[in-house]
Amino acid sequence: MTKQTQLEELKKTCLDCKNCELGLTRNNVVFSDGNPETAKAILIGEAPGENEDLTGTPFVGRAGKLLNEFLEKAGINREKDLYIINTVKCRPPKNRVPTDEEKNKCANYLYKQIKIVNPKILIFCGATALQSFYKDKIQISKIRGRWLEVDVDGDKYKSIAIFHPSYLLRNHSLEKGKPRTLMLEDLELISKEINS
Ligand code: URA
Repeated sequence: MTKQTQLEELKKTCLDCKNCELGLTRNNVVFSDGNPETAKAILIGEAPGENEDLTGTPFVGRAGKLLNEFLEKAGINREKDLYIINTVKCRPPKNRVPTDEEKNKCANYLYKQIKIVNPKILIFCGATALQSFYKDKIQISKIRGRWLEVDVDGDKYKSIAIFHPSYLLRNHSLEKGKPRTLMLEDLELISKEINS
């Protein structure tokens, strides 16, 4: 079975999922974006926002548009190089942070997506994604910029944590050492790894 076929099977299960209350309020399950056959990296966000819930595609709202700008600057092709997913597949009401219960109930889908795509690297975009894989509670600003090794259900993946674009929407400075400059440095590091 191709990756695409396995993912389509998994998506069908997600579309019917009512394992938690988010299944009662969502408009769409937001399963993924990008090409699983060509993707070198999986980028994992937090959860769908309003625009994602309405379209069924991750990172298409304001944060997504900013992410696209950074990816382009770093020479990462969103459609070819990345497979983009979220920790939780349905929108939490009013964009609140997903609860531990919601994350736990959705974790099986997340791990399966990773195992099927089996990318060279995992990118944890923001604290929610990082905390699903990295046991120690640590801020993105303390851990970003270096390669990590994480265990996903028995398999080891080279990984890295980056700021969430929503954080950059609140931090505009382009000075050296500030979040926007660091985000570009991190994505350039990732771009080198993707293209090596
Ligand atoms: N924020 C996320 O973490 N994921 C999305 O898909 C959109 C916004």
